Amino acid sequence: MSKIIPTGAVLGADITEIDLHSRDASDTVLAALHHHLVVRIRGADIDDLAFTRFASRFGQLEGSPAFSRSRPNYIPDAPLITVVSNVKENGVPIGEHGDGELNWHTDLGFMETPSGYTFLLARQVPPTGGDTRFCNMYNAYEQLDASTKQAIATLRIKHQKSHTAQGIPRPGFKDISTIDPRELPGPLHPIVRTHPHTGRQALYLGRRFGAYIPGLSLEDSERLLDGLWARCGGEGNTWAQKWQVGDMIIWDNRATMHRREQFVGAGLRRMHRLTTLGEKPT
Ligand code: SIN
Repeated sequence: MSKIIPTGAVLGADITEIDLHSRDASDTVLAALHHHLVVRIRGADIDDLAFTRFASRFGQLEGSPAFSRSRPNYIPDAPLITVVSNVKENGVPIGEHGDGELNWHTDLGFMETPSGYTFLLARQVPPTGGDTRFCNMYNAYEQLDASTKQAIATLRIKHQKSHTAQGIPRPGFKDISTIDPRELPGPLHPIVRTHPHTGRQALYLGRRFGAYIPGLSLEDSERLLDGLWARCGGEGNTWAQKWQVGDMIIWDNRATMHRREQFVGAGLRRMHRLTTLGEKPT
């Protein structure tokens, strides 16, 4: 019988004694996810095919879009997995994102239909650094004052798609010349979205770099967005995952954002990532 052990922070729980091959494992994880937003399973001893099979029980799996990838395929036998790593083979990176910091973001928010759940499985970790921190976007919304809630109720935000959260052009946008948020390409999503399964409202912000609220001047948009972002990663609204090999972390992109601390010079790190297709945010 599996056990759910909350982290004691504002989100996150461990699930222990779970058989990832059993038919009801996904029901247990999903119920915990909707309650705790981020779930950790330690010692997940599964190969890439079993990992793909497990994640596919949570929805249709989506590989990283071609314009965001540095290579067409990471793992030939498991093509939906994205490798997130600083490992190089013959001088060529085997995956994405290197060893730098990754600023707050939510996965594939820059697509019309963003990710639902993300699964990150640690294959290799450095002795220190590279923690992944999550924040609770239900809380970030609920703690806004009434006038801010009213001001943002019907506003939408541009989730620019051409640049990473660090402001670096993605592989498919190497020639882009503007960084004006009003001009960058990307879909518009509501700033406040309703979770299709829990019915709760959450802030849905994506990436700070290049974000823009159409209908506002750039200055007003920047001021409002800075204020909203300040709510998210502040004290008391986050929890950090310190990785061990075999950790599988699953998060709900509709109700969380995440960031990764840099681990420059600390060692090699190799993560295998899968995401499910969510729904158009409303
Ligand atoms: C990601 O944001 O996709 C990767 C997070 C991490 O490397 O911990």
